[in-house]
Amino acid sequence: MRSLSAFIVKNKFSAVFLMCDENTLRCCVPYIVRECPVLKDAEIIEIESGEASKCIDVCQGIWKTLAEYGTDRQALIINLGGGVVSDLGGFCASVYKRGISFINIPTSLLAMADASVGGKTAIDFEGIKNLIGTFTMPRAVFVNPLFLDTLPEREFNNGMAELFKIALVTDKQFWKDLTGKKFTPAFIEKSISLKNAIVSEDPYDNGKRLVLNYGHTVGHAIEATDPSLILHGEAVVAGMMIENNIAVKKKILKPATALAINGFLSNFYSKVLPRFNPSDLIEFLENDKKRSGGVHKLSLLTAVGHCRTGVTAKTADIIAAAETYLSEI
Ligand SMILES: NC(=O)c1ccc[n+]([C@@H]2O[C@H](COP(=O)([O-])OP(=O)(O)OC[C@H]3O[C@@H](n4cnc5c(N)ncnc54)[C@H](O)[C@@H]3O)[C@@H](O)[C@H]2O)c1
Repeated sequence: MRSLSAFIVKNKFSAVFLMCDENTLRCCVPYIVRECPVLKDAEIIEIESGEASKCIDVCQGIWKTLAEYGTDRQALIINLGGGVVSDLGGFCASVYKRGISFINIPTSLLAMADASVGGKTAIDFEGIKNLIGTFTMPRAVFVNPLFLDTLPEREFNNGMAELFKIALVTDKQFWKDLTGKKFTPAFIEKSISLKNAIVSEDPYDNGKRLVLNYGHTVGHAIEATDPSLILHGEAVVAGMMIENNIAVKKKILKPATALAINGFLSNFYSKVLPRFNPSDLIEFLENDKKRSGGVHKLSLLTAVGHCRTGVTAKTADIIAAAETYLSEI
């Protein structure tokens, strides 16, 4: 946290806002203010925890607060929280006065390993995940695994989903480590470096970065069926399993590989794997912002550590693969 203090002092921001939700306000703000006394005068902006806060109404409240404080372009927003806080806070900062500085201090595993890095900010709109957003890099990301001490177990496992995903699409050895060894903060570092390598090659999601979408086309649709009950990572796990079924059907992934991955994931997430009515996915799949010409372009595994982007599939193919998933869990 010393580097955080140094960063704030060095940049002489005109004002500093600390964005958090009620959980990170309780569990993380006291620690950060103690470790970084320069933050004791920061204005706290508290949002309600949960995906529902990633919406335009909450943005309006934040922009109103910034305007009421007479916030200028030299101000800083610190997003102290999970992916909801960093997606929302990053989005609000990226358009307020055409963009003010923000940094991310991720406090959930999912945000540490994935959401806080890569520069995607977003809110949900009209029931569609991440429909409105920007590509804006945070000025810095400060990762401190100590915050994981207060993270509930279900949220921790939710974050593991994004680590499993990045390993599956890029690095067979990392997948072996994740599935065979005890968790260590080194896994977070590895995940960030793998993601950064991809993002630096394709910051705007037009090519290589699409591999990160593995599990997400279907996962987002599953999450949208009940965002208040299904966590993002849990939906992505189901999405990865269903997309593996599609890859097998398309004969680009060996059935034995899909069986091994799906077997591991369904065991790891046995109690929380989403169950849903497959026909409920249709509306969300048809609205997918990445869909074009009536077909979905999926990022599918061809082997552990290898992913092929732009594989076309119809909504009906996805529904059939979802039915297989539901019959297997
Ligand atoms: N921008 C990206 O690249 C990207 C990537 C992946 C996911 N996301 C987004 O991230 C969001 C999910 O992120 P998330 O899983 O972190 O959800 P979240 O922000 O809702 O956090 C999960 C829960 O954990 C609590 N929490 C967080 N840190 C805590 C701590 N240290 N101690 C106690 N409680 C704590 C939060 O209050 C919340 O209740 C989704 O909206 C998803 O779309 C974005």
